[in-house]
Amino acid sequence: MIEPKTLPEVDERDAVREPDRIPVAGPWVTDLEVQYVAEAAANDWYTHAGESVGRFETEFAGYLGTGSASAVPHCTSALHLAMLALDVGPGDEVIVPESTWVATAAPITYVGATPVFADIDADTWCLSTESLARCVSTRTAAVVTVDLYGGIPDMAAVRSVAGRIPIIEDAAQAIGGKLHGRFAGTLGDIGTFSFHGTKTLTTGEGGMVVTDRGDLAERIQRLRDHGRTPSDHRYFTTEELAYKYRMSSLQAAFGRAQLSRIDELLDKKRQIFEWYEERLADVPGVDLNHRRDGLTNTFWMVTAVVDSDYRLTARRLMELFDLHSVDTRPFLPPLSSLPAFARYQTAVTAARRNKTAYDIAARSINLPSALMLTEEQVDRVCDVLHTILRPRKERS
Ligand SMILES: Cc1ncc(COP(=O)(O)O)c(C=O)c1O
Repeated sequence: MIEPKTLPEVDERDAVREPDRIPVAGPWVTDLEVQYVAEAAANDWYTHAGESVGRFETEFAGYLGTGSASAVPHCTSALHLAMLALDVGPGDEVIVPESTWVATAAPITYVGATPVFADIDADTWCLSTESLARCVSTRTAAVVTVDLYGGIPDMAAVRSVAGRIPIIEDAAQAIGGKLHGRFAGTLGDIGTFSFHGTKTLTTGEGGMVVTDRGDLAERIQRLRDHGRTPSDHRYFTTEELAYKYRMSSLQAAFGRAQLSRIDELLDKKRQIFEWYEERLADVPGVDLNHRRDGLTNTFWMVTAVVDSDYRLTARRLMELFDLHSVDTRPFLPPLSSLPAFARYQTAVTAARRNKTAYDIAARSINLPSALMLTEEQVDRVCDVLHTILRPRKERS
């Protein structure tokens, strides 16, 4: 077994373009991933075809302690399969928090259902249970929770409001997180993960859908393979028209190597957060990702919520960081503000009602959180933030 070894930090072409630029996100890839992929490229064919996918699924389910894990091309397809497995369709509503990437809500529309946008909680930045209670209707077919930036909402409260309505937990950003000892992704009826290149565990593009419910697992496995089950394979019979949502062996092999290193990947994320926390502790009016008893936040993206007294919009903050060659991202804009949802009456209503999501998004950004970040780079980012905020504090 080859020991993990750190590959060069910066691609040479990037170094020529802007050597000191600090990236906002990115993976930690070692020789181990290269070795696993090389082995799969050489061996995962003929009678061994797809072997790495099966292993990745078994190891992933084992890590989470969940009944089944199905590898898919991305979290977007995982969410689509979750909707299909729960028989969500035209005439149904699905409740989704405002603050998430559009991929959480787009699959609701793929199945012809209507997204209903609930507000977020000011501390967790995840689904607000009060808002959820206001959004539930007789048409609600599912609730999607989002573990935003590695945090997790109060799932017991969500469950008690949702009652018998199924919960899909979008854990795209929260692999390794825990709530009261249970892993993110296992706290609803179905959990979904993303292995996009920006995520803590990556396969380049990729995803996983997990569930403890045997009926849902079986349905997901059939739907992701053109309606086939293992017993249909040899004779090419298909019971129903479905989807081709399978992961390739090469991606799965990469994922297996990353999963074997999950603790060090999570430790690095925590380390990055703590570097920021130490350096920004004395800056008034800047809140970072929250911690609470029973929650293991995995800090996928270190996020700074800047007090409105500073009169700085997220966009202005990003421009100022950009001038210092630091890449940042805006806190995810409320879904109901996106032109893509303008034709939904639910978006018009939500835009008037969901004050917290709008307020936080207006004045918050993600700070660089790439896995290869160094302590010196975090120093630089924090110096820039001090430089931006100090004169404004002195004026006020
Ligand atoms: C919360 C959330 N849900 C879903 C997705 C979609 O993941 P993917 O890009 O793997 O489809 C992402 C990706 O960033 C995400 O952050």
